[in-house]
Amino acid sequence: LGRKIVHYHQIDSTNKEAKKLAASGEKEGTIVISEEQLAGRGRLGRTWISPAGTGIWMSVILRPSIAPTDASKITLLAGLAVCEGIKEATGLPVQIKWPNDLVLHNKKICGILTEMSAEMEKINYIILGIGINVNTDSFPEDLKNTATSLKIEGEKEYDRKEIVKAILMYLEQYYELYMKNQDMEDLLEKYKNHCLTLGKEVKIIHRNEEFIGKAVDLSKEGELMVEKQDGQVITVFSGEVSVRGL
Ligand code: BTN
Repeated sequence: LGRKIVHYHQIDSTNKEAKKLAASGEKEGTIVISEEQLAGRGRLGRTWISPAGTGIWMSVILRPSIAPTDASKITLLAGLAVCEGIKEATGLPVQIKWPNDLVLHNKKICGILTEMSAEMEKINYIILGIGINVNTDSFPEDLKNTATSLKIEGEKEYDRKEIVKAILMYLEQYYELYMKNQDMEDLLEKYKNHCLTLGKEVKIIHRNEEFIGKAVDLSKEGELMVEKQDGQVITVFSGEVSVRGL
């Protein structure tokens, strides 16, 4: 991964650009990275604030030969790889909030937006969009309580290149491991060690119903297993999970 890096000073969205490239045949492993995004995209149609020179805004093109239904596993292993990469490069105690937000001292420092194109039960490409607040000094009022940066928490500037390098190393390693074994067992064990959600009370929206429960484990497929107040355990594939008190 990252043998070819397309670097921009300014772009609307690296995910959008990576999709364009992938659709016109760009090889697996190519990365689009920009100093600034004018229309950075988050999950659930949200915008992602991506000011110039302060963060890592990048998208990785993947072409895994797995079923589209297994794409969420790529998202999970990406969350794990980014978590370990940031930890290694900065020494900061970053954690994963299931499925793939990264938090530091209970505030979000990184989000991952996976976009897939698939046809006839086969994946054409997956775009892994990774946004990390690295040297951001401050956030708008409405994000202050929930978002932070490595610089704010670590009280120093960090070298973005070092972080990207460390992330790509883990990402390549974990991606290859998963593609070889098509099995998440070892990766999920690692994931659990970094996961802040497990053991916590969570609020979940599941099948249009909102409830409180305890996140007790991850299934073999990486879904969150939640014990409801009546003792029933359900598995949640994705969606909005908020950890209570955070
Ligand atoms: C989230 O909502 O948590 C996901 C945020 C993903 C942001 C990244 S920044 C690089 C890439 N390009 C985009 O437009 N979005 C992703």
